This record gives sequence, structure tokens and C-alpha cells, in this order.
Amino acid sequence: MADLTTSYMGLKLRNPVVVSSSGLTKSAEGILRCYEAGAGAVVLKSIFEEQFRELAGVSEQEYGIYPEAMDYLRKGGLLEYAPQAICDMIEKVKKELDIPVIASINCQSPKLWPSFARQFQEAGADGLELNIYFLPLDLDTPGSKYEEHHVQILKEVKKTVSIPVSVKLMSQVTSVPHLGKELADAGCDALVLFNWFVQPDIDTRNLKTINIIGKGNFFHCLRWVAILAGRVDCDLASSGGVRKAEDVIKQILAGASAVQASTLFYQKGIKAIQDLVKGIEEWMDNHKFTAVDDFKGELSFKKQEVSFKGAGEAEAFFRAQYLKAYARPKEE
Ligand SMILES: Cc1cc2nc3c(=O)[nH]c(=O)nc-3n(C[C@H](O)[C@H](O)[C@H](O)COP(=O)(O)O)c2cc1C
Repeated sequence: MADLTTSYMGLKLRNPVVVSSSGLTKSAEGILRCYEAGAGAVVLKSIFEEQFRELAGVSEQEYGIYPEAMDYLRKGGLLEYAPQAICDMIEKVKKELDIPVIASINCQSPKLWPSFARQFQEAGADGLELNIYFLPLDLDTPGSKYEEHHVQILKEVKKTVSIPVSVKLMSQVTSVPHLGKELADAGCDALVLFNWFVQPDIDTRNLKTINIIGKGNFFHCLRWVAILAGRVDCDLASSGGVRKAEDVIKQILAGASAVQASTLFYQKGIKAIQDLVKGIEEWMDNHKFTAVDDFKGELSFKKQEVSFKGAGEAEAFFRAQYLKAYARPKEE
């Protein structure tokens, strides 16, 4: 019988299926449902700094956030989901389940990241996921500045806590491998690829901009998991577009230690975890794999790279594949 246990950011998971940060994990009841359905771990709904600012009585001028957001917060839109409430929730669920509970933080100002991190560690969280999202809007700020900011935040958090810390990256990064390496070298325990965000759209009838729910891009995640696996000194989790067991298997073959998903569970119900787990088990049995490590990263860039003599040759290979893809006749 296949053994699905996996090690992710230093934590032992009974299987690689992680319920990602979302409304599914925002309450103790929701988390327990994930556990009962067979999740390997859960990442809690992110705490957003704006919620904390309001509680702390910090004015919008001080932080320069959108007045509309502040109005919303004042009306109590998110106030019930305060840090203390999250700490209480962590304490409660940790008494009732034995899978890792990873708290998720999203802040803007550097000093708040370690503060939240410490509170969640004290409450009993097994790990932390830093949901770092800065949309690069400024014309004068180069990509490297945003990337340095990631490393800075991680370092501050790592100084404050002893539990493992992962960074959930946005995909608008100039060089994912370079930033991944910098973060791993700064002590990051895992990278989560990638962050998900609302997408912009335009309402042409009312001439207004609107936001629509984003979609995780499975192949984008697969590419970068495969490129980073075994080359950066930390674990990887993919996050985006997983809909069936085969998708989880592909991400593990590419090098992921764990696979995060949520849209699937919104669409099919949390019990869909069982189909994923069963599908992985069957596939492993058919391929005579007894442990996840037997096939993890087998199709990563690093494993395939051994056939190249150096970076130049690999680059030439990818260039050739790119040209071939465009030269291919349509009907093929
Ligand atoms: C309704 C909803 C709420 C989400 N909230 C958060 C959040 O608070 N923090 C976060 O890091 N990601 C959040 N995400 C993104 C997920 O954690 C995850 O990265 C993404 O949904 C994975 O792709 P998938 O939905 O295709 O499985 C949310 C996703 C959904 C669908």
C-alpha cells in the first residue's frame, strides 16, 4: 500500500493535499471539515493588515490606504476576524486535530509581519505562510526593490519565530529562480507558487473598472516548480489550478512537496480531497511507487538538466523547443 506521507517545510503531512488559504479555512468548523475530509494540512485564511490597523486605531492618512477600504472596515466588514479571534481559533483547532495548521499573514508595513507571526506561533500554529503581495504600480521602483522587500520581510519574521515559515510568491517577479534562491538562503522553509489575486476587468456598459475572481494557472505553477525543484534549498508547494489527482501527481513529479488547492473544493465540496488522495494512491500502486519521495522531482528541470553539459546548452535546448512549438503545423 502506497505511503502518502510527505515532509513539507519541516512538517510531516499525512498526504500532500493542502487546503489553501481561503474562506474554507477561516473558521474552526471549516478547518475541522478539511481535517475530517482527509487534508494533509490547512493554511488559514490570511489576516490582512488593514483589519489590524482599524483595531489599533491607526488612521488612513498614516498608512495612506484607500478611503473606501477604510469605510468598509469602519462598518465592521472584517472586524470580527481580528488577530485575537484567529489566535483563539488556532488554539481551539489544535486541541481537536493532529494535522499541521499554517497561519497566513498579509501585511504592507514591515513591522507588522513579525508581530502577527509571533502571536500565531504563541497560539500554537505549526507554521506560517507569508502571503506577500505588492502590485508594482510605481514607475520609479525597479523590480529588484520589490524583491528585496520579500527577503527583508522574511528575515524579520525568521528572527521572531522558531516555527517554519513559507513565502507565497506573486508571479510578477522578474526572476523567480533568483528570488527563490535569495529567500531560501535567508531561511525560507518553503515557497508557495503562486499567489492568486483578483483580476481587473472593465464594465463597458457603465464605464467602470471592476475586479473579478482570479484563476490559478496550473501550467504556470508547474513550470516554476519544475525549474526551482532541487535547485533552491527549501521545499515547494504549488498553488493554482489543481482539479484532479493527476494534477497533484504532475506537480509532485515536477518537484512539489505539497499541493495547495481551494477552487476545486468550492466547486465539488471538501470531500473531493478523498478523490485526490485515492487517485494518487492508485497511481502510485500502478507505478509501484511506495513513497512520495520515490517520484518527487523525477521530472524536474534539475533531474533533466543532467543531460545538459551546462547552462548554455540548456538555454539552447529551450530556445530550440520554443522555435519547434511555433513551427508545428496546426493539425498536429
Ligand atoms: C475565495 C478565495 C479566497 C482566497 N483567500 C486567500 C487568502 O486570504 N490568502 C491567500 O494567500 N490566498 C487566498 N486565496 C488563494 C488560494 O489560497 C490559492 O492560492 C488559490 O486559490 C489556489 O488555486 P485554486 O483555487 O485554483 O486551487 C483565495 C482563493 C479563493 C478562491
